[in-house]
Amino acid sequence: MLDWQKDAVVYQIYPKSFCDSNGDGIGDLRGIISKIPYLKALGINTVWLSPCYPSPGDDNGYDISDYCDIAPEYGTLDDFKELLGKLHENGIRLLMDLVVNHTSDEHAWFQESRQSRDNPYRDYYIWRDPVDGHEPNGWQAAFGGPAWEWDEKTQQYYLHLFSKKQPDLNWDNPVVRQEIADMVNFWLDMGVDGFRCDVINNISKDLSAPGCGYGPHLHEYLHELYERAFQPHGALTVGETWGLTPQQTLALTGEARGELTMSFQFEHLLLGRVGGDKFRRCPVDRTEFVNILAKWEVGLKDDGYPVLVMENHDQPRALSRFGDSAYPYESATMLAVLLYGMRGVPFIYQGQELGLSNPVFRSLSEYRDIETINAYHEMRAEFTEEELLPMMNFGSRDNSRVPMPWSEEANGGFTSGTSWIQCAVDPARTVAAEEKDPRSVLHFYRRLLALRRENDCLRRGEFALLHNEDGTVLYQNTLGARKTLVACRFADSEAALPDGVPENAALLLSNYEDADTTAALRSYEARIFEVC
Ligand code: GLC
Ligand code: CA
Repeated sequence: MLDWQKDAVVYQIYPKSFCDSNGDGIGDLRGIISKIPYLKALGINTVWLSPCYPSPGDDNGYDISDYCDIAPEYGTLDDFKELLGKLHENGIRLLMDLVVNHTSDEHAWFQESRQSRDNPYRDYYIWRDPVDGHEPNGWQAAFGGPAWEWDEKTQQYYLHLFSKKQPDLNWDNPVVRQEIADMVNFWLDMGVDGFRCDVINNISKDLSAPGCGYGPHLHEYLHELYERAFQPHGALTVGETWGLTPQQTLALTGEARGELTMSFQFEHLLLGRVGGDKFRRCPVDRTEFVNILAKWEVGLKDDGYPVLVMENHDQPRALSRFGDSAYPYESATMLAVLLYGMRGVPFIYQGQELGLSNPVFRSLSEYRDIETINAYHEMRAEFTEEELLPMMNFGSRDNSRVPMPWSEEANGGFTSGTSWIQCAVDPARTVAAEEKDPRSVLHFYRRLLALRRENDCLRRGEFALLHNEDGTVLYQNTLGARKTLVACRFADSEAALPDGVPENAALLLSNYEDADTTAALRSYEARIFEVC
């Protein structure tokens, strides 16, 4: 792994909701360009841009109809080059979203593929005959219903792990793999610094397995792409990989593997959900939350690099799930210290640095997300509308997709037109308001990221969990002779600081103004120390 990759601090931009420059209600690339000073002041050094390629928008851009262009609503390829150049001038690298498990059904390849069984593009996708008059296997699509769609014209099914407008590419076809490598090189040659790789563990499939993921050729196909594209450009790649163990992650990201640079782990984000179902809430086991993070730190310590994440465009706001609405500032900043005090690469999702919580959706008509809308209709058989709305408010992906609140102006300053989705603006939680308030989550994030920049022990030191009981956490990072300690109170009450913090430890950062090295920890207090 290259040094800049280890020291990356990534900010995820969801282009549709970041900043609208032309008043059409949709965020765009020129809007992002106008906010580069904000990104720079925050102290991040890398941007991950969610898809901004042409797309019919069935899954908000994760259904791509042209891999080598920019969607007109977001701008032009020239705007993109300008954004890339200006980010680079400001010392910020750019990761694109690589969505290659599937395309849109409106992609030219699929338009050809569905013409006839002997079309040259037929084998770009996964077409199968019926088995005993029904679907070839029992796989379910992530957005509801079977993962197979019947095609009348050619009398076969095609596979779609997501919506039926997202047919899966056939990675067993070497021509497809070469097309993808060429496309990846198109962006890398332009100067893009790497990719976030969408549902990448699904690209190789064993149709006889009970479900999809970790197919027989996954490592082979990733290694091939690495050799053809990632490696020659020194690209940073981060895999979206659900349900992995640390061992499986090492098999994808170990230094000698030549596959991916690193990979997300989301295990802690499954807590507080009944059976992992994102719409059914249950209490979060906070001790378990910390134990999971610790397990991954330890599991990846020799040959891997942890990705530190608690929000993205698929997740509700972390503050609404793991924080405490009675202590929004304290719990949002404590969560930041707990997570980003660890060794690894922080990922911050737009608005997380403001301590945003979930907005309120008053009816189904306010939702835009295909997953939420489909789940609502499916669950309508089991629940009343009154029961369903709070469930959707809890779990919907639209919670994090409402526009970035820049100011108190109309629509939070996001657009001068009509926003594509509601603008839920809390006047106390806008960029402008937080800029003015020294005790804001935004200022705290800036301080925390500045501290990580100057303290390599904090960002790279080997992790050890020293204490995790009754809502009190203490862990250490060690780098050579240096040591940092992170103490957090993950509860709404005071408790003694755990043993292990020497009296002469230097307090580097705290989310309480009058923090003192050895005093008891107050509700959601967080402290970072250096031990000399
Ligand atoms: C990933 C994306 C999600 C998308 C899905 C299908 O999970 O993060 O937003 O719906 O892949 O591309
Ligand atoms: Ca726009």
